Amino acid sequence: MRTVRSVADLRAALAGPRRDGRTIGLVPTMGALHQGHLSLVRRARADTDVVVVSLFVNPAQFAPTEDLAAYPRDEARDAELAEKAGADLLFAPPVDEVYPPGFATTVRVGGVSEPLEGAQRGASHFDGVATVVTKLLNMAGPDVAYFGQKDAQQAAVVRRVVRDLDLPVRIEVCPTVREPDGLAMSSRNAYLTADERARAVALKHALDAARAAVEQGERDAAAVASAAAAPMRALDVEPEYLALVDPESFLPVDSIDRDVLVAVAARVGKARLIDNATIRRAR
Ligand code: PAJ
Repeated sequence: MRTVRSVADLRAALAGPRRDGRTIGLVPTMGALHQGHLSLVRRARADTDVVVVSLFVNPAQFAPTEDLAAYPRDEARDAELAEKAGADLLFAPPVDEVYPPGFATTVRVGGVSEPLEGAQRGASHFDGVATVVTKLLNMAGPDVAYFGQKDAQQAAVVRRVVRDLDLPVRIEVCPTVREPDGLAMSSRNAYLTADERARAVALKHALDAARAAVEQGERDAAAVASAAAAPMRALDVEPEYLALVDPESFLPVDSIDRDVLVAVAARVGKARLIDNATIRRAR
């Protein structure tokens, strides 16, 4: 695996393979790689000929109050993990390579970026995500780009950008990888103390409780949400939101008469955690 830091070097490294008709897979990350990220790299390895992992902690998607400075960074460890999982190229640009002096363009997605994470973190979060993902796709020009269902709303925002701006790439969304107790893997889990780590499983318990309520025949979204909130309360974790939404628009649903997404966010200690699950309506 080679590490490249400039767009010119990235394009030069990919020009030959592209000319030879080899397919390119891109896995965008902010590093602090864990098995969730690595599942995307392995999937790209299985699907495509040349696997590019990008490692860029994108300042534009962090609000001033968020954890940009504290975000875990260890490029040497990430490089080793990415290589073992099958990456051919690590693209790790400095901030001014991505945002050169005078940078003034924002990709803003309406609709799907507005509720839940958009409402909690502010519009600038998904503006930052949509802008950097558009740039990474233009830099690498992959045939396929891989995202995790863990960040379901982000994946929906990315799909919207790709459709709306006619970007010539296929987006694959891969399942959430979890710790043995069910906690969704996240770089931010590193912020948890032992006590907080034990309570962090509350989000997964909420998703399980929502599913159980629907399996027992509950169809009223408010009743399902309240069943889901109970195990969170038991672990003393307060949801920022706990919502049953349409999996494409992310708008709230009133009743479970089709597939719905249960999405939850909560702060546990210093970590802000999110998780989600699709509940399929038995037909
Ligand atoms: P990051 O949080 O590093 O995540 C990179 C990719 O890994 C995202 O597509 C995310 O959904 C996926 N991922 C994270 N945890 C996962 C898990 N437990 N199981 C499966 N996939 C998981 O998301 C970002 O970075 C950034 O917003 C980015 C898209 C790179 C733009 O800056």
